[in-house]
Amino acid sequence: MSLVDHAARVRLNAYVPYSRFKVGAAIRSTEGNLHLGCNVENVAYPEGTCAEAGAIAVMIAAGDSRIAEVAVIADSPSPVPPCGGCRQKLAEFAKGDVVVTLATTDGKMLRTTVADLLPGAFDASHMEGA
Ligand code: THU
Repeated sequence: MSLVDHAARVRLNAYVPYSRFKVGAAIRSTEGNLHLGCNVENVAYPEGTCAEAGAIAVMIAAGDSRIAEVAVIADSPSPVPPCGGCRQKLAEFAKGDVVVTLATTDGKMLRTTVADLLPGAFDASHMEGA
């Protein structure tokens, strides 16, 4: 199964009573393992936790450290771009050239990279000397 297929499968588990918009994310770690996340909303914060953030949390909890590849899928007219917060989270755990495949449930795909999603990213080097 491809990484997009894995993202499509976990997307079905999304808990989205407020937006009704299901998103699935799949990460292959540099350690070679698969980590899956879906969006999970709640009444106080209806935007909830994004699928990408969920997959990253699962990866870290599993003991892996870095992202080798990511896929994100939603039922959307065009591939949904990760939110700003998720771009920063992806940049924390992935090199700039890591491929992020954004997909729709009807088969559209956009291949991009972590650096293209977050040009000029803030990183630890900017705090040197603090
Ligand atoms: N969402 C994600 O999970 N990932 C994205 O890349 C975009 C947005 C979720 C958050 C919320 O549950 C719903 O989509 C609508 O914003």
